[in-house]
Amino acid sequence: MAVSPGAERSFREVVVRLGLNPDNQWVGGYVEYERTHFRRFLPSDLTGTTVLEFGCNMGASAVIMAELGASVVAIDVNSRYLEVARANALRYGVNVEFLRVEDSSKLPFANASFDWVNCNSVLEYLSRTVRTAVLNEIDRLLKPEGHILVTGTSNRLWPREVHSRRWLVNYLPFGGYQRGVWPWELRRPKWRLEWLRSPLRPNLCLRVVKRAATRSNPSELNTKAPRS
Ligand SMILES: C[S@@+](CC[C@H](N)C(=O)[O-])C[C@H]1O[C@@H](n2cnc3c(N)ncnc32)[C@H](O)[C@@H]1O
Repeated sequence: MAVSPGAERSFREVVVRLGLNPDNQWVGGYVEYERTHFRRFLPSDLTGTTVLEFGCNMGASAVIMAELGASVVAIDVNSRYLEVARANALRYGVNVEFLRVEDSSKLPFANASFDWVNCNSVLEYLSRTVRTAVLNEIDRLLKPEGHILVTGTSNRLWPREVHSRRWLVNYLPFGGYQRGVWPWELRRPKWRLEWLRSPLRPNLCLRVVKRAATRSNPSELNTKAPRS
């Protein structure tokens, strides 16, 4: 997507003021990277859908999904990244609601608010305890028949951990090393996992579909009160 020289200049000013390098691939180049790598896992039109971008960083995936017509809410724990993400949305001329969160296991949204929750390269940065709490919260926020996209997350089945580039640490139960995520950590009673690419790759790449509750199984009905 074409960016006007003025919008590009404003983006670069914000990034430099925050002490980051706009020419770095993971800062100024992140949206175009995800346009090539992440965009292919999305439908061609997201108009009329609501998306939660979990851990938005520089806003790359959030911008892509907003360009496809989704109404995007993007959250992160880091206010500096959120400032870059806001500047990135302006740079690409899309509307995204950005929000800093303290505790990502208790998010300020009502039950069943989102058609999609996007977790691109984020779940592996959470401790196992936090990840479990976050996935339960995402389950609360997701509409029945909604989707969670998990992409770019270091796969614990793979012998080399993608961020640290250490061999075999993924198979160690403890030791203080960064490790990936086992695919079965994404299982929940109502979730159906669909692999988008082979399970035997350095990064996980799958879509989770939340089955709708059925009348024949009332225990599946969500009875929690909405959070305002
Ligand atoms: C690699 S970046 C994610 C990239 C982004 N999802 C995208 O597709 O453009 C990881 C982000 O996760 C954020 N993060 C880490 N822990 C988090 C948490 N508990 N809740 C929300 N965001 C978190 C970090 O601040 C960082 O911005």
